Amino acid sequence: MGIADDSAVSLNQNRPQHIAVVMDGNGRWAQERGLSRGEGHQQGAVAAKRIVELSLRAGIPHLTLFAFSSENWQRPEAEVELLMALFVQRLEAELPSLIEQQIRLRVVGNRANFSNELIAIINRVETETAHGDALSLQIAADYGGRWDITQAARLMARQVAAGELQPEQIDEAVFQSALALSPVPDPDLLIRTGGECRISNFLLWQCAYSELYFTDICWPDFDEQAFNESIGWYAQRSRRFGRTQEQITPRQAG
Ligand code: FPP
Repeated sequence: MGIADDSAVSLNQNRPQHIAVVMDGNGRWAQERGLSRGEGHQQGAVAAKRIVELSLRAGIPHLTLFAFSSENWQRPEAEVELLMALFVQRLEAELPSLIEQQIRLRVVGNRANFSNELIAIINRVETETAHGDALSLQIAADYGGRWDITQAARLMARQVAAGELQPEQIDEAVFQSALALSPVPDPDLLIRTGGECRISNFLLWQCAYSELYFTDICWPDFDEQAFNESIGWYAQRSRRFGRTQEQITPRQAG
């Protein structure tokens, strides 16, 4: 099945169609080993590659990784520079394998503060992977859920001002289509590693009905077993989207 064939809301309880991940705990992972935070982020990049491959193998069509939040600019300058350099390096290095594996990569977020070098490699990777239909991979960078909702409102306001959209036409579907992830369906499963139980301004609109999975494992240690455990946990969830259990699994007559 191609990645464009999915419905916006999946009632499939067994396998998530879209996994979103807050990759937290790189710094603590490094500290515990007497390593620098930068080495933690490098191992985080290894773990990011691993979950892409695991998702491909598991037949999961959409994966979104939170790589840098709107608030992460407030980190020490050296760490921000290191992360930006790591994004450039990983995108350049992974491009051939993304194309070969039919992975379509998009970077979602505000690009205004990225270097020209980073913007250039993002544009190149997005263009050269645009036809990939095995997995849609979204890297959220300089992303925030509030930024996303604000930019969608601004986009629609411009369309209204230009006479292209009537205010009465703005419903949830129209709003959703203006969000950065569109047309990717909402995440079924949100994983957060590193022990914190919060969303941290990630996909605020899109996670309205996501199943939230929190694990103490630090991101660099999130391996195949941890991935399978999260998928197994998800398979046990009863997703009702506001309906009753009887509506979801009607009792057999007789
Ligand atoms: C959170 O851990 C992690 C980040 C802010 C950066 C995430 C970046 C990567 C995983 C590497 C690059 C990824 C790609 C997709 C190229 P933290 O630093 O907040 O950890 P801490 O809470 O232990 O300090």
